Amino acid sequence: MSDASPEIVAEARNLQRTYAVRRGLFRAPAQLRAVGDISFRLERGRTLAVVGESGCGKSTLARMVALIEKPTAGQLTLIGADAVAPPAERKRELRQAVQLVFQNPYGSLNPRKKIATVLEDPLAINTTLGKAERAEKAREMLARVGLRPEYANRYPHMFSGGQRQRIAIARALMLSPRLLVADEPVSALDVSIQAQVLNLLADLQAELGLAYLFISHDLGVVRHIAHDVLVMYLGHAVEQGPKSRIFARPLHPYTQALLASTPGLSSQRIVLKGELPSPLNPPAGCVFSTRCPHVQPRCREERPALRALDERLVACHYAEQFLDGAAVVRADGPVLAAS
Ligand SMILES: Nc1ncnc2c1ncn2[C@@H]1O[C@H](COP(=O)(O)OP(=O)(O)OP(=O)(O)O)[C@@H](O)[C@H]1O
Ligand SMILES: [Mg+2]
Repeated sequence: MSDASPEIVAEARNLQRTYAVRRGLFRAPAQLRAVGDISFRLERGRTLAVVGESGCGKSTLARMVALIEKPTAGQLTLIGADAVAPPAERKRELRQAVQLVFQNPYGSLNPRKKIATVLEDPLAINTTLGKAERAEKAREMLARVGLRPEYANRYPHMFSGGQRQRIAIARALMLSPRLLVADEPVSALDVSIQAQVLNLLADLQAELGLAYLFISHDLGVVRHIAHDVLVMYLGHAVEQGPKSRIFARPLHPYTQALLASTPGLSSQRIVLKGELPSPLNPPAGCVFSTRCPHVQPRCREERPALRALDERLVACHYAEQFLDGAAVVRADGPVLAAS
């Protein structure tokens, strides 16, 4: 777009997803709120990283944004169209505009299909290109993701994990999407290979202006790839905003704990006590109140709203106490449980 204003590729407003979970033969199903109330805006060429521990709702959010699953409530707009109930004439365009890359490239590539077929299938189904043109495009795409074009004649098992993830990325790009939803795309890879795949994603973003919704539990990875960060806990956003702000001075105690548990990102040691509560029975007030080292009586009763503070959004009644940085940068400070 020649327009100077940023181009919004995806916008979510109060997205929610609830599952009915059976609890036995004679009891009514319980409502499990996997994603509570998530809002974000994602621009062309930008990466929003979603972080949080297992079960916090990252993949559920990813599936909604990738149009695999419908939200229970809320709005989702992709490339300017309503993605929850898309107009009939834009359905195909929307499905092509957003593509998903999974964690496990073994599982997502059909072992019986040659790479050429894997890459050409989306073109065969969605375009009028002839066989020779499809083959040519597949070979071009292989080169673009750093693989040799002659690999097109091989089968998935002949590749390493990193190469397979490159193939999965190539497949996702065949229909020129605008948004890539990547759910833990490097988590199954060795650290050295992770860096290569992250660099590839960064190069492709610069080249093609792709927007990424990047799901990861690893803040070390997020630090390399994200522009903005959304920290989730039990389905809720607890802190959200520019990576630089959040990494420099996390204002939510959960973000602080996540950063502290990632080697090399913090001098602080915070050991979270207690178990992650069941999403079937979330705490009444702040979702983090049962494990927060700074919990106050109010936190157990009143859920803090996500509010603007210090150039990001944070859902903590007492976030101001961390503004001066004193409480969070000291390794053995009095406020946090040090170890
Ligand atoms: N289809 C489903 N039916 C019932 N519950 C579900 C379903 N999908 C997810 N959940 C529940 O929703 C919550 C969020 O799950 P989700 O897979 O989104 O978490 P996640 O953050 O991706 O976790 P992980 O890091 O382990 O991949 C979990 O409590 C999970 O058990
Ligand atoms: Mg997941």
